[in-house]
Amino acid sequence: MVEAFGLSIGVLLVLMTVVLHLSSGTERPIPDDVSQSVLERRAESVPDTNFPEPMNRSIGGGGAPAGAIGGEGGAEGELAESEEAEESESPAAIPDDEAEVYEVEYEKEGETLEVPENQTLLEAGEEQGWDLPYACRAGQCLSCGGHVADGPSEDYLTHDGQEMLSEDEVGDGYTLTCVAYPTSDMTLETNETP
Ligand code: FES
Repeated sequence: MVEAFGLSIGVLLVLMTVVLHLSSGTERPIPDDVSQSVLERRAESVPDTNFPEPMNRSIGGGGAPAGAIGGEGGAEGELAESEEAEESESPAAIPDDEAEVYEVEYEKEGETLEVPENQTLLEAGEEQGWDLPYACRAGQCLSCGGHVADGPSEDYLTHDGQEMLSEDEVGDGYTLTCVAYPTSDMTLETNETP
């Protein structure tokens, strides 16, 4: 009887311990911002990194400083300047009131025109309403070909960007009239190709 009483007291104590443990709870407080605290803890656990400069920058090859791009004297600036210089070298850039005028005899059309040095031989003929042949108008085909009667064409005109005629053909008097600006009086045969 006494043993049974002691046993039941023991069981009761165990039950009370379990109930107390459960009632005190095992729930951990949840921080307001879990993700922020996790990030902070992770950040503290990662040592500071100190990566070296990329090789191409440290040896001065390729990595232009940000300020140099588009700035004065930068690569773009130089490109724009060279383009400007190229443009200003074109006879077309000569102001009308400064342009020399030359007499060009268009042999097949039977007329002599006064052509300023800032106008192409093709344009001068077109202004007369003549149906002269052309295609690209950029010196990259042979459609507008012509022939200077008296010798190497570049003794009488300058080509601004012709890419089709060989030196020999220019030497024989051939020209691409869409990019040909007169530099002298001449006799021209239109619609002639080598
Ligand atoms: S039209 Fe093409 S080169 Fe003159």
